[in-house]
Amino acid sequence: MRLITILFFSFIVVFATQAQTYILSSPKKAIKVNISLTPRGELVYGVNYKGKEVVLASALGFELANSSLKDNFMISKIDSLSVNENWQPVWGEVREISNYYKEYTFHLAEKTDKARLINIVFRLFDDGAGFCYVFPAQPNLQHFVIKEELTEFNLTGDHKAFWIPGDYDTNEYTYTTSKLSEVDGLKAKDMATEIGTRYIKDPSSVQTPLTMKTKEGLYINIHEASLLNYPAMQLHVDKATHRLSSSLVPDAVENKAYLQTPSKTPWRTIVVSDKAIDLLSSKLILNLNEPSKIEDTSWIKPTKYIGIWWEMHVGKGTWDFAGSQDAFSMESTKGLKPSGKHVATTERTKQYIDFAAQHGFDGVLVEGWNTGWEDWFGNWKEDVFDFITPYPDFNLKELQQYVAAKSVKLIMHHETSGSVTNYERWMDTAYDFMKTNGYDAVKTGYVGKIIPRGEYHDGQWMVRHYQRVAEKTAAKQIMLDAHEPVRSTGLHRTYPNWLASEAARGNEFNAWSTGNPPEHETILPFTRLMGGPMDYTPGIFGIKLDRYGKAGYQVHTTLTKQLALYVTMYSPLQMAADLPEVYNEHLAAFRFIKDVAVDWDDTKIIEAEPGDFISIARKQKGKDNWFIGAITDENKRIAVLPLAFLDKGKKYVATVYKDAATAHWQKKPEAYVIEKGLVDEKTVLSVRLAEGGGCAISIMPATASEVKQMKRLK
Ligand code: NOJ
Ligand code: CA
Repeated sequence: MRLITILFFSFIVVFATQAQTYILSSPKKAIKVNISLTPRGELVYGVNYKGKEVVLASALGFELANSSLKDNFMISKIDSLSVNENWQPVWGEVREISNYYKEYTFHLAEKTDKARLINIVFRLFDDGAGFCYVFPAQPNLQHFVIKEELTEFNLTGDHKAFWIPGDYDTNEYTYTTSKLSEVDGLKAKDMATEIGTRYIKDPSSVQTPLTMKTKEGLYINIHEASLLNYPAMQLHVDKATHRLSSSLVPDAVENKAYLQTPSKTPWRTIVVSDKAIDLLSSKLILNLNEPSKIEDTSWIKPTKYIGIWWEMHVGKGTWDFAGSQDAFSMESTKGLKPSGKHVATTERTKQYIDFAAQHGFDGVLVEGWNTGWEDWFGNWKEDVFDFITPYPDFNLKELQQYVAAKSVKLIMHHETSGSVTNYERWMDTAYDFMKTNGYDAVKTGYVGKIIPRGEYHDGQWMVRHYQRVAEKTAAKQIMLDAHEPVRSTGLHRTYPNWLASEAARGNEFNAWSTGNPPEHETILPFTRLMGGPMDYTPGIFGIKLDRYGKAGYQVHTTLTKQLALYVTMYSPLQMAADLPEVYNEHLAAFRFIKDVAVDWDDTKIIEAEPGDFISIARKQKGKDNWFIGAITDENKRIAVLPLAFLDKGKKYVATVYKDAATAHWQKKPEAYVIEKGLVDEKTVLSVRLAEGGGCAISIMPATASEVKQMKRLK
């Protein structure tokens, strides 16, 4: 139900020290936004949460190519309305989402003859605020170039921040935790040089979603919603004043954005709470995105998949046919000799399909199926892949027939190697080719520097590309998973076929780099995942990689923490990333991955602190099954898990997959214990998590005989 009320002057207007001031408030008044028009005609805003300042008076506006659009304004009109509605996402963490806000639109006009018009829209929710700039159609501003957006977030102190550097080309960093005054991108831990792309122009800038904690214990997240036709916003940190200012990712000629009126910017978002758990359940960013543009969504399915993937990351086999990284042109690929290490063969794919069918997975991803991999990395070369030519040992038709008989689908892989001009040329053909061969999901990838040369992954040109991919795939009923795109901004509401993105440092880094420290997965939900689901690719059971001859390399968690990630790292697309042979060594623990859901009716964030720990319970969509994931950083801890969310008076069987007493992410990561017993809504489980450890629990209604035979779990 949608309830819209037009509000008339329901805000307080104060005329103080010549400035015109308006105090706006959210539906239940937890959030207040103060707006002032200064004597110079600048519009300034500030945010207040439960009486505490969060953002002090901060600037708004733009620097354009030949002028600025930031002052000499008068307010010609203020519109306001209140919306209270519930909507149901196609898939998600909860079945129904409440969208309850007050909106105020300030219509600004310059005080000159050739006045340009700009509207600034503020939406106030009880857990934060969003605002965006709207440029109406008008004679004096028809098309223009943005040199910089002047939006500021003037913070109240030197907050603790969880940040990655303002790199235009990659977000695959581990997080640094420091005071704002200590931000230095060039000293960021674990530089993404490991993947060869890195472009930090301003070492004092950070990427969003940026999460901070104040000395008073407020949690603040700054990000953006609905990033379309505009570059990503990074934040420059003024270390002396703790003022953050928008720094848009430029294009090849150092411009930031090109707009034509009518148009608007993405929403700038500030989520705030005095409890960390509330940040994780906020729906503010999702609510600020437009409803689904896809009418018939019946073909969109949350997906659990396995794939020909980790084998190459750990070096057991290769993506390419020839097993060589020598430069070859695409034409000469035909003449290559097989290396014997090529994994994506018809035979191996059938083994994965069999395993997927046996264990109830929806999809099998195959990477390295197509020609071009001999020469894909680090060359900045335009024509590498054509997305339609398989290697000679990969038979698409045979596999299409093979999967047809099973309840499994193959997932297509389109690595662009950053050559997006080339991908744009092939895209339509490649999607038709997918449909002809029975594929209805694609994983894209953007490793390397972008072509057109000089463009960045997070600039306006690429943002428009990601949108084109989302729209074209939607039109062809293809589900999408993007690796190395710009970070998510809630667009999965608008394009629910875009199930997930990577857009952060995934599990893969554990295979071939210094890896992800044990705290990494306790920070991601507070940062990257604020914008939307991540394809993190959890589920690695062979934690130590010496089994592949990679002494010293390992995943930086225990085995049961890998299980817990299926719950703590929300995504409707989840991979079981390890090899079938490795899962066969641990079938009892693998049971959890088989059972765990990928779509939910409800989510309870039980406890959380960024950088330290997260425990979450989720209820499977349409079923009375609950799944809990609890994770910790490098410190051991006891997770206390009250099961008060279970139906009253009903008995359930809980299966607890937890670290053994001797477990430790580094010393003994594969030591785990599985316990089973009865629980109900009065049960409070206390589970010990090892250093770098975690625990996963499935809870399902007990049968009459289970109630008789099983003991209560404590
Ligand atoms: C990086 C992606 O994140 C990874 O999943 C993929 O296997 C490689 N690129 C190759 O495309
Ligand atoms: Ca990646």
